[in-house]
Amino acid sequence: MFLNFNTAKYASMWNGKKDLLGMNDLSKEEIEGVIRYSSALEPLSGKGSKLGICRGEILISAFFEPSTRTVTSFAAAMHTLGGDVQTFLESGSSIEKGETKEDTIRTLEQYGDALVIRDSDPGSVARYASLVKVPVINAGDGINEHPTQALYDMYTIWKQFGRLTNLRIAVVGGLKYYRPSNSLVMGLGKFEGNKIFGICPPGLSLSKQYSNGCYEEMQINMTHLNEVLEKIKPDVVYVTRLKKEYMPPNEDTKNYFYVVDNKTMAVLPQNCIVMHALPRVWEINTEIDSDPRAIMFKQARHSLQVRMAVLALFLGHEDELKKL
Ligand code: CP
Repeated sequence: MFLNFNTAKYASMWNGKKDLLGMNDLSKEEIEGVIRYSSALEPLSGKGSKLGICRGEILISAFFEPSTRTVTSFAAAMHTLGGDVQTFLESGSSIEKGETKEDTIRTLEQYGDALVIRDSDPGSVARYASLVKVPVINAGDGINEHPTQALYDMYTIWKQFGRLTNLRIAVVGGLKYYRPSNSLVMGLGKFEGNKIFGICPPGLSLSKQYSNGCYEEMQINMTHLNEVLEKIKPDVVYVTRLKKEYMPPNEDTKNYFYVVDNKTMAVLPQNCIVMHALPRVWEINTEIDSDPRAIMFKQARHSLQVRMAVLALFLGHEDELKKL
């Protein structure tokens, strides 16, 4: 008698999609769905909560780049859904013996039900996804995209304003190398009436492929940042980190300095929020942390319920989410 291996679970797509690789994978309605389910999960995602939605399933976490929030919140999200997590560490793995990342990913697929992958090479996560049958979530691929970051950024904005339309968003800093702003501009561009101002030093423009009709770029001397923000009157200031790790080693960064501090807060509207994907280095002064408009850590907290929603959807559990 032949064993009949059941591969049906690998057909656990969400709306015909196996993977979440970038914001173009999601329609406006699907983003709204993620936000709706995240909101339903929020009261159930407190520390100590445990749901049974992903019981018996294993998430494999493979990060070829450093991470604090993404790796930890995906693990916490999977545990809260009742599933398990296996973390792959490159250091000490057979990559040190010369095994390729492709063979590594194809091997990891054998042990889990979904993969969450970060890699420094743009497009690499899509390439890995094409090699495996299980869902793959892009946790950041070089200077390309970070879609789950954009989803929880959008959830944070929705929680604050009750809408994702007709907003004025200033995205500030080194946009050329910053993947969360690529994904955020793409995501917010799907919603009506938004105006996104990219405020960056010359040479650090948003790459054209992430731009859309909502986006207007203002290349400025960053010493004038506060004056520009005062004129724009944004609802959201989204601050980015200068990703030196992706910049040519000899690039002169002295003209790239910018900081959001108490002087910046003084020119912003009273209901304007300041966001940052974190980690921050020097671009947000800690002196603003006590201002209730600085919501970076509340934003980080939202990664939990949004990643729970994403994992449940891409593991084929939308019916369970509908019952929440
Ligand atoms: N925002 C973010 O992706 O943080 P980590 O790099 O710490 O995961």
